[in-house]
Amino acid sequence: MEILDAPFVKAFVNLANDGYTHGYHERNGGNLTYWIEKEEIEQIACHFTPDNAWQEIGTEVPDLAGEYFMVTGTGRFFRHVKDDTINTCGIIEVDETGKRYRILWGYADGGRPTSELPTHLMNLEVKKKLNGGKTRVVYHCHPVNLIALTFVLPLTDAAFTKELWQFMTECPVIFPDGIGVLPWMVCGSKEIGIATSEKMKEYNAVVWSHHGIFVAGSTFDETFGLCHTIEKSAEIAIKVRSMSPTKLHTITRPMLRDLAAAFGLKLNEKFMR
Ligand code: 13P
Ligand code: ZN
Repeated sequence: MEILDAPFVKAFVNLANDGYTHGYHERNGGNLTYWIEKEEIEQIACHFTPDNAWQEIGTEVPDLAGEYFMVTGTGRFFRHVKDDTINTCGIIEVDETGKRYRILWGYADGGRPTSELPTHLMNLEVKKKLNGGKTRVVYHCHPVNLIALTFVLPLTDAAFTKELWQFMTECPVIFPDGIGVLPWMVCGSKEIGIATSEKMKEYNAVVWSHHGIFVAGSTFDETFGLCHTIEKSAEIAIKVRSMSPTKLHTITRPMLRDLAAAFGLKLNEKFMR
């Protein structure tokens, strides 16, 4: 099978294009990783170049040793992923120690994986320990309204979860665990990867203050849908806050309890106080 015809590659490209058309990716902003299934690799392995040099990941992910990932390239623009996949994206293999990777396909004009590779892989490793490898997609983008909220809300998991839950009824249904928030940190580092993956132990979404968001999920649709839902609620929050400093109505705690009962949800109790 040609690599560009593989269903996971098409889904990867679709997400990148969706993110771009939603305005989440100015210039080279954002990055995307898919943890490729072994059967999917077998179908395309004949196109790989297996003799590229091993390079440092910048962190250790021993639980992902020997695994394969499709990853967007550093400095590459999401707007070009659809029409220029081979230059904007690549497929990598992690070595037996979990410390190095090599390029098997893509980054054709001399590129390499995103600078946020440590965070992407550490998130997948943390999720693997929790759910045995169900989480396959990690996505990072720069949605305007969510970033704007990080300048006016306390930078806590509770403040963001409560804010977003109360502005759109679907939010507690889509992210009943809530979302995590990190203070401003230097991006592209092992440290922000450690901090993000700590939050990923509890949530599927982590806000990077004044920067963007990381989301994780088992499918491309689920992962993008989570980000889309969070950003939409953030947009409503911004509009309401811009219209008036106070609200006449809100989604109250008893309403959240009714919702939980109706949908069989287990809402994170620490955000119900
Ligand atoms: P890359 O171009 O290295 O993927 O970085 C973009 C980004 O959003 C950094 O956080
Ligand atoms: Zn970023």
